[in-house]
Amino acid sequence: MAGMPRVFVTRKIPAAGLQRLQAGAAVTVWPGELPPPPDILRAQVAGCTGLLSLVTDRVDEALLDAAGPQLRVVSQMAVGVDNIDLDACTARGVPVGHTPGVLTETTADLAWALLLAAARRVVDGERFVRSGNWKTFDPLHMLGLDVHGATLGCVGFGRIGQAVARRAHGFGMRVLYAQPRALAAAEAGAARHVPLATLLRESDFITLHTPLNPQTRHLIGTPQFELMKRSAVLINTARGPIVDPQALYAALHAGQIAHAALDVTDPEPILMDSPLLQLENLTITPHVGSATLQTRDRMAVLAAENMLAGLAGARMPHCANPQVYATV
Ligand code: GLV
Repeated sequence: MAGMPRVFVTRKIPAAGLQRLQAGAAVTVWPGELPPPPDILRAQVAGCTGLLSLVTDRVDEALLDAAGPQLRVVSQMAVGVDNIDLDACTARGVPVGHTPGVLTETTADLAWALLLAAARRVVDGERFVRSGNWKTFDPLHMLGLDVHGATLGCVGFGRIGQAVARRAHGFGMRVLYAQPRALAAAEAGAARHVPLATLLRESDFITLHTPLNPQTRHLIGTPQFELMKRSAVLINTARGPIVDPQALYAALHAGQIAHAALDVTDPEPILMDSPLLQLENLTITPHVGSATLQTRDRMAVLAAENMLAGLAGARMPHCANPQVYATV
């Protein structure tokens, strides 16, 4: 261990990644079940050469200052890096690793799990049975929405949006997507590029797949809910703040849309006194888009590989601020 660069890992991660990391660094792992509070994170990272972070850690100027000038690498075990001040890292010549690709299909699977659960009232049905209310077959009870033949709208059509759309073809769905850039026909397949307003008006299921940034914060608010069908279902497996939570509550409460299924919230975790949790037409999971055994292993290994490349002064396999290589 002597002479190895010091790396702080902000949470217990799968052994596959940790072992890879330990081969090239002197690693300290935060042992808590909750993320290290900011003051403890600042103290732990002081003097480290590498920081392996999660979406729950704020990596900002204050943290970079506390780490000190020897910090050479931030490697995040996630694809999204909205918790990290990328400009501040770039200005200090610190490459930031992330884990795209390895979680694409798994996250698309969860978007579909939520879509199907919301459409066919799986969670309602489960609650109904367990609370002893199932007395008979009822022709008018637990009526959901058809998925096959419906229109799916993907807001954001990167890797995950496209993976969600591929699954839709098996359900005979029409697929629309909205994002600033239209894809070449070979990439878009049968999906049609439309303005966001058209997508919101025409879709039965609206699924969010944009990164969180100043342009996408509250992208879905009151004016957008007003465009949606009253039967629409909104699925968010991307980032909570893409949806304005007060507008979401108002839309669900007033029946402006039929249902929302969220894997991410704003704030996160959702507060237990949030009025959203009083609604029957909300399905919610605790930010588990990439949470399978296989995918979390792949993410941890890729985060370790990004870290080791960065520590060796080599180009990372996946760098979220590649412009850093032009400035160092
Ligand atoms: C999880 O939210 C991720 O960005 O990987």
